[in-house]
Amino acid sequence: MTARPRVTLADIRAAGRRIAGGVLVSPCPESGALGAMTGARVFCKLDNLQRTGSFKERGARHALLRLGPDQRRLGVIAASAGNHALGLAYHGRLLGIPVTVVMPEYAPLIKLSTCQKLGARVVLHGRDFAEARAEADRLAALDRLAYIHGYDDPAVIAGQGTLGLEILRQVPEVEAIVVPIGGGGLIAGLAVAVKALRPKVRIIGVEAAATASFTAALRAGRPVAIPPRPTLADGLAVFKVGETAFGLARRRVDQVVRVSEDELALAILRFVEYEKTVVEGAAAAPLAALLGGHLPGLMGRKAVLVVSGGNIDPAILSRVIESGLVADGRLSRFTVVISDRPGGLAALTRTIAESGASIKDIAHDRAFSGSNVSAANAVCTVETRDRGHLRSLRRRLTLAGFPLVQSPGPPRPAHA
Ligand SMILES: Cc1ncc(COP(=O)(O)O)c(C=O)c1O
Repeated sequence: MTARPRVTLADIRAAGRRIAGGVLVSPCPESGALGAMTGARVFCKLDNLQRTGSFKERGARHALLRLGPDQRRLGVIAASAGNHALGLAYHGRLLGIPVTVVMPEYAPLIKLSTCQKLGARVVLHGRDFAEARAEADRLAALDRLAYIHGYDDPAVIAGQGTLGLEILRQVPEVEAIVVPIGGGGLIAGLAVAVKALRPKVRIIGVEAAATASFTAALRAGRPVAIPPRPTLADGLAVFKVGETAFGLARRRVDQVVRVSEDELALAILRFVEYEKTVVEGAAAAPLAALLGGHLPGLMGRKAVLVVSGGNIDPAILSRVIESGLVADGRLSRFTVVISDRPGGLAALTRTIAESGASIKDIAHDRAFSGSNVSAANAVCTVETRDRGHLRSLRRRLTLAGFPLVQSPGPPRPAHA
């Protein structure tokens, strides 16, 4: 058996010295609002403020700086459609190192064009990540490029570990650090640094329940592939954690929890509302765990949430905000039966207005409201303050003679 590469505190300190000046020392302010909401003392390590929007710059820059002069001239390659690609492209340009990125054909146009703007050569290849990776390996051999793995390269892991060193400096009394887990590089580097210096600080990993590959690896005792499922936290959608990352993290991570898609959406919304901060799904995972009640042990404790990235597609952000408002009971749609006589609709809108709710949209539906020609359905979209307010609106409507039509739920696909 070959020995797994080691990453030590000394490696991470050296990485910190190497990347100093090239990567932002991101702020780590305390959030009174999130503290009040969760009962913990919450600090947010804002690595979404890095130039390309994520902590991945740390590892990418460090790995590039570790190359010898010949390899710097020849360049590097990676298969990635995400933040690792952006970090490599940006720092490759700053350091004068040619960067090739292989993305699967479905890669979002915005990622492709951003990487190109940052000066990388982008190759679109393959229907999935595995095919893109195979092409990257082929090009690496052909053009003598160094392959830089996004979460399992020791230099990348050491670079990510610098985030842990900064947290200990910025919040010396920290008691727990909550970290998103994708392939495991971030939590591995951070845990090596923090546990070496402050073994009592709890390291808590958070996965998207849809892609819980670290949990699967803990159960199996080694990285295993899990079936792919879509998640809002695309940065965490890794189907098998890295061997090196897992080897470093497994004994240093105190707890791993899983969050649902609804919890992720709500956490993104809370960041926008209370922190005026745009985060992507992966970066919302730590707050999602706290708000979702998965971490009761943090009540009253000083906890740092690693806010790892902010690269969220604006169209997805807008959907997430709306679905977060729905989950919150602040935006809802329901159908009530009204009289189809003059004044029927006016009586309904008056009742809604008296409850303090605000109507966003209302549609009159006669064709599908049954055989009673003196009645019609009104499909209402309304804004309320919270779930309690929504419940009281519904009660008020029923009492005022507007029966609610039970929704049949979303249509089931034919093959279900
Ligand atoms: C924003 C963000 N957060 C967290 C992660 C997870 O990092 P790792 O794969 O090192 O576990 C990623 C990975 O791409 C990411 O882009």
